[in-house]
Amino acid sequence: MAKIIATINLKGGVAKTTTTVGLAETLACEFDKRVLVIDLDPQTNATTMLIQEEKWRELNNKELTTARLFKDSKLAMNERKFDLRNTIQYGVSSIDKVKKLDLLPSSLELIEIQDNLTSIYRGRFNAITPVDILKRAINEVVDNYDYILIDCPPNLGTITLNGLRISDGYIIPTIPDVLSTYGIPQVVKWISEFSSEIDKEIKPIGIVITKYSSNSSVHKTTIKELELERDVKLFKTKFIQCNDLAKAAEYTEVNTLAKKWGYGEKHYDLFIEFAKEFMGVCNDEFGV
Ligand SMILES: Nc1ncnc2c1ncn2[C@@H]1O[C@H](COP(=O)(O)OP(=O)(O)OP(=O)(O)O)[C@@H](O)[C@H]1O
Ligand SMILES: [Mg+2]
Repeated sequence: MAKIIATINLKGGVAKTTTTVGLAETLACEFDKRVLVIDLDPQTNATTMLIQEEKWRELNNKELTTARLFKDSKLAMNERKFDLRNTIQYGVSSIDKVKKLDLLPSSLELIEIQDNLTSIYRGRFNAITPVDILKRAINEVVDNYDYILIDCPPNLGTITLNGLRISDGYIIPTIPDVLSTYGIPQVVKWISEFSSEIDKEIKPIGIVITKYSSNSSVHKTTIKELELERDVKLFKTKFIQCNDLAKAAEYTEVNTLAKKWGYGEKHYDLFIEFAKEFMGVCNDEFGV
C-alpha cells in the first residue's frame, strides 16, 4: 500500500512544488521507489516541471488532467469521461534514469471548477461528497506505488481537501521567516479538525526549511522557534537559498539528478539527505 503524503502551506512561493518534485525524483531515481505525483494546483507547476509544456497543452486539450475528474463529479455516473489509467503519465521527469515516476497532471481549469464543487452529483443515497472525488478515482492504482506525493495549492479549498482526504500525512515546506511560518499553527489545527471529521488520521510528518540563508538572523531565530513547536517536528535537512535553482523548474533534458538540482551538487545532496529523513519518518509513523 502506498503512503500518501500531501505538501501544504497557505503561504505561496515557499517551495512546496520544488520540494514535492525534487523528493519524488530522488525517491524514484536514487532509492528505486515507485512514485506518483498528483498535481492539484491550477498553477500546474509540478506538471510542467515533470513534462514538457507542449505535452501538457496536448493533454489539456484532450482533457487528460485532474480537471476532467472534478468536472465529471457534476455528471451522472454513465456520463463521466475521466479515465485514470489514460490520464496518468508514466515514466515522467526530464532525467532519463527516473523510470518509476508517474504524474497525474493538473490544469488551469481547476480554478473555476473548485468554486462550484458543492453542487456535485451526490448519488441516489446522497452518499457522494465533494471531498471524496479524488479518493474514489485513484483507489484502483494506490497499490502500484510506494509513495504518492500530492502538490497542493496554497489554499484550503475543496480540491486541497480532496488531497488531504486520501493523505496519510503531510509535510509543510516553509521559508524560516515570520510571514511564511505565521499560518502553520492554523493549518495544523485545521487539518486535525478535518481529520476528526472524516475519521481518518492525517499525521503531520514534518516542517521542511526552504530558501535558508545562514547569514540571516531572522532565519536562525525562526528555526529556534520552530524547534519548540510541539505538534509538528522539524526535518533536520535545510534547503538553502540558491539563486540558480529556478533553472531546475524548467523542463530540460539532463542525464542525472545531480545535474538538474546540482550547482556544486548542493541541492542534489540535500534532496538525498531529505529523502532519507523522509523515508525514516514514514517508517517510524507507518512502518513502511
Ligand atoms: N532553495 C531555493 N532557493 C532559491 N529559489 C528557490 C528555492 N526553492 C525554490 N525556489 C524558487 O522559488 C520559486 C517558488 O518555488 P515553488 O514554486 O516551489 O513554491 P510553491 O510554494 O510551490 O509556490 P506556490 O505557492 O505558488 O505553489 C520558484 O521560482 C523556485 O524555483
Ligand atoms: Mg506550488
